[in-house]
Amino acid sequence: MNSSLDDLIFSASRQHYKHLIFLLMPRPSMSSQSGPRAIAALVIQRLLDKRQTLSSILPGYLKGLVHKKDQALAQELCYGVMRWYFQLDFLLGILVNKHIKAKDTDIKALLLIGLYQFRYLRTPPHAVVSATVEVCNELHKSWAKGLVNAVLRSYQRKSKHLLRNVEADLSARYSHPRWLLDILKNDYPDCWQEIVTANNSYPPMALRVNTGKVARDTYMTMLNQAGITAHRAPPWTPAGIMLDNPVDVNKLPEFMNGYVSVQDLAAQLSPDLLDLKPHLRVLDACAAPGGKLAHILESEPGLNEAVGIESDRFRFGRLQQTLDRLQLKARLIHADVRETATWWDGVEFDRILLDAPCSATGVIRRHPDIKVLRTPADIETVITVQRELLSALWPLLKTGGKLLYVTCSILDSENDQRIREFLNKHSDARSIIIDADWGINTHHGRQTLPGQNNMDGFYYACVQKT
Ligand SMILES: C[S@@+](CC[C@H](N)C(=O)[O-])C[C@H]1O[C@@H](n2cnc3c(N)ncnc32)[C@H](O)[C@@H]1O
Repeated sequence: MNSSLDDLIFSASRQHYKHLIFLLMPRPSMSSQSGPRAIAALVIQRLLDKRQTLSSILPGYLKGLVHKKDQALAQELCYGVMRWYFQLDFLLGILVNKHIKAKDTDIKALLLIGLYQFRYLRTPPHAVVSATVEVCNELHKSWAKGLVNAVLRSYQRKSKHLLRNVEADLSARYSHPRWLLDILKNDYPDCWQEIVTANNSYPPMALRVNTGKVARDTYMTMLNQAGITAHRAPPWTPAGIMLDNPVDVNKLPEFMNGYVSVQDLAAQLSPDLLDLKPHLRVLDACAAPGGKLAHILESEPGLNEAVGIESDRFRFGRLQQTLDRLQLKARLIHADVRETATWWDGVEFDRILLDAPCSATGVIRRHPDIKVLRTPADIETVITVQRELLSALWPLLKTGGKLLYVTCSILDSENDQRIREFLNKHSDARSIIIDADWGINTHHGRQTLPGQNNMDGFYYACVQKT
């Protein structure tokens, strides 16, 4: 591996690297000789072949790299290829005239990595070709060296002409699947281009201060003393801080002692909308990993009771860890919240937060693999679950109580359409207008769009039982 080349790439875009998260995961089998490009090729191969998410695969593979800068480069290549997948794959379709066999997805991934370096990293072109071709040996596929060399050199020769083709194809130009572009154009005829451009950008890193432990301004000073530059978030997120550059969470002062959490500003809007007060009984119906439940507990320590439900066993563990780190207490139940007979004691709730499972199309800039993994059938599946969750939870709400429906989706079919259908079916439900300085007004709720005020895309609707 050419280490000076990697130094160059690392320093060129280091401010963009997301912090590295190391989860306890089994290390996949790989050669001890594998460098960052080979690791990235194996990760992308597994994502494409097994349809697994980057955040579930990558941490285990990164453990195979000793140096932090190699880990950072592998991560950048994986996220970058996912961000630009539809454009890079379009180029590959023109450049490779024979079919790449299903058992050679690692070579396809390597070619995408080569093209990504040409297009989006400031790597000298000759270095892209030699470093990428060499990886064929690491993948034990030296037969592919000729193919990789020919494809990358062909891109170099024809890039001007190829990029004209990219411009003419919307899916390639904006690097989004065609079906999703069609929905976005329909839902946002005036601003779909801004949305897809924001989806392809690097996400900022925002924090939520645990104001029960430390005031926001005090924590700003602590950040400053640690050499981390940041600014206060807008007034609608009173505990929010926006970092100028992402940092490793372990560098955040007193992170392990629960002073602060990493949370996008658009995800920090629930406590205000829930109209929290002392002595209320609150349900977080889909609680893991616990960001919003923790925020509720931090904002209103005088609640009578907070109950958090989560159906996924692994994520239930993360929910418990979140509250433990922040030294917060709630009654946590591992259950399918729709099966109320298995967990509900019959005492109605004053407030219900339903942060529903969704397409996550509002957080594509954080998880660009969503564009590659999600299908139209997945959208239909989550809509069914959203419908079932709303119906199952309604009888649990007190008269006069409020239900806050939230998604990190920007699709109308998961947002306003769900609330409209719900209101039509329930004569004892009325939607409360959200009058706010953030987001855009939808008929029944409010929508933040990716990149707008530097926030992710979230939908909020508040429904009261009359
Ligand atoms: C959008 S996430 C919630 C994020 C969480 N509110 C936070 O802020 O950290 C949705 C969660 O709902 C869980 N979930 C999905 N269906 C569920 C169900 N029927 N019952 C309980 N939890 C469910 C998912 O496993 C997932 O953890």
